[in-house]
Amino acid sequence: MPDSLSIKDNRTGKSYEIPIQDDAIRAMDLRQIKTSDSDFGLLSYDPAFMNTASCRSSITYIDGDRGILRYRGYPIEELAEKCNYLEVAYLLVHGELPSKNQYEEWKHNVTYHTMVHENVKKFLEEFRYDAHPMGMLVSAVAALSTFYPDAKHFSDENSRRLQIHRLIGKTPTIAAFAYRHSMGMAYVYPDNDLDYAENFLTMMYKPPASSTFEANPVLAKALDVLFVLHADHEQNASTSAMRSVGSTHADPYSCAAAAAAALYGPLHGGANEEVLRMLEEIGSKDKVPEIIRQVKDKKRLLMGFGHRVYKNYDPRAQIIKRIADQVFEVTGRNKLLDIALELEKVALSDDYFISKHLYPNVDFYSGLIYQAMGFPTDIFPVLFAIPRMSGWLAQWQEMLLDPEQKISRPRQIYTGYPERHIPAQT
Ligand code: CMC
Repeated sequence: MPDSLSIKDNRTGKSYEIPIQDDAIRAMDLRQIKTSDSDFGLLSYDPAFMNTASCRSSITYIDGDRGILRYRGYPIEELAEKCNYLEVAYLLVHGELPSKNQYEEWKHNVTYHTMVHENVKKFLEEFRYDAHPMGMLVSAVAALSTFYPDAKHFSDENSRRLQIHRLIGKTPTIAAFAYRHSMGMAYVYPDNDLDYAENFLTMMYKPPASSTFEANPVLAKALDVLFVLHADHEQNASTSAMRSVGSTHADPYSCAAAAAAALYGPLHGGANEEVLRMLEEIGSKDKVPEIIRQVKDKKRLLMGFGHRVYKNYDPRAQIIKRIADQVFEVTGRNKLLDIALELEKVALSDDYFISKHLYPNVDFYSGLIYQAMGFPTDIFPVLFAIPRMSGWLAQWQEMLLDPEQKISRPRQIYTGYPERHIPAQT
């Protein structure tokens, strides 16, 4: 029996054989199902893409029921333990882990591009003192497209590589500048002798008058692991934005700005910020039952819980919980941790959460670590965007090289008026 789906259209009595490949049918195969020659053909309707694959991808694999996440085949747990962020970024972009020489060259290329044009600095200075750092990041990444008009040559492999190095290199610099702007502190330029996470922490926290600042190695390592965990997550909203804008052949800076804008939303990468605000609002363990009641009454969401794909514990959240212990040994225990643990305990034993398969996601514990490390709450989504840049770029490149991809353009089911006319003036 060939892998196929037999469909009978009860409107016409006609039958169709639709091939099944990789457990999917092609939506375009439905178009032949018509009631007449002038009929447009059958569409599939899938608001929010609940059951539609928009691409074939070899980058990230998720099994949401079993809580599995792999980049290019490697389990996230192994990558978090054995690789640093730049190795993982290379893996995502190139498909294989780098050899020693490849790694040195990649690190050099990314590091070489950590500086931003002085005009980017001036551009950031024009934001209000209380501008949200994510708004600054989105704008500054978009502004980079005006500095690198050569980025339009996306079909040239060398040009693509150059933009990838630039974006992975410059994003932490812009993020740190945005933070220092909000603090009214002089910007600290990148130090190319430092590792990726170490350099970011130094640009964030080095006092202007100090020449001897050294990021705490435990915290730098913890941040690097968090970067690994956030690097890619297949076709989420921001990655879909990256691919969708990229499909119009816009330059990668404009695409990445669109992706970062999608990430900013509280249902996506902005959730880490919202979790922290929620925990602060709860304030003490005894208020947890009341919050759970409000959630069950649909008056609010439990931020940091639930996921479109994971219907089991998010494997990233499990690793983050372990990192939290290491970080708290250095920084002292975050007081909000007890509230978070209580929330998790109550939620995971409640039928509402059990029946809906709602588990803590990556954002539930990450904010506690960021806060313990001294990051202000506003900047949490930016800390998600920095590492996700490599995933976005890997996905953008894959989309451009995929001969099946075209400009992204969903269909709609029109529900408005049929043709009507403006009444004649009386
Ligand atoms: N708190 C309470 N109820 C929830 C939650 C939550 N966090 N998440 C989902 N539900 C309920 C939802 O109300 C729905 O109930 P019902 O069946 O009665 O209508 C049911 O669970 C299914 O949820 P859904 O909204 O259909 O699921 P979705 O796949 O469309 O949404 C989500 C996924 C992540 C947007 C959602 O779970 C959510 O809003 N979570 C809170 C925000 C959050 O933590 N986002 C970070 C996601 S992980 C990081 C990332 O990759 O972005």
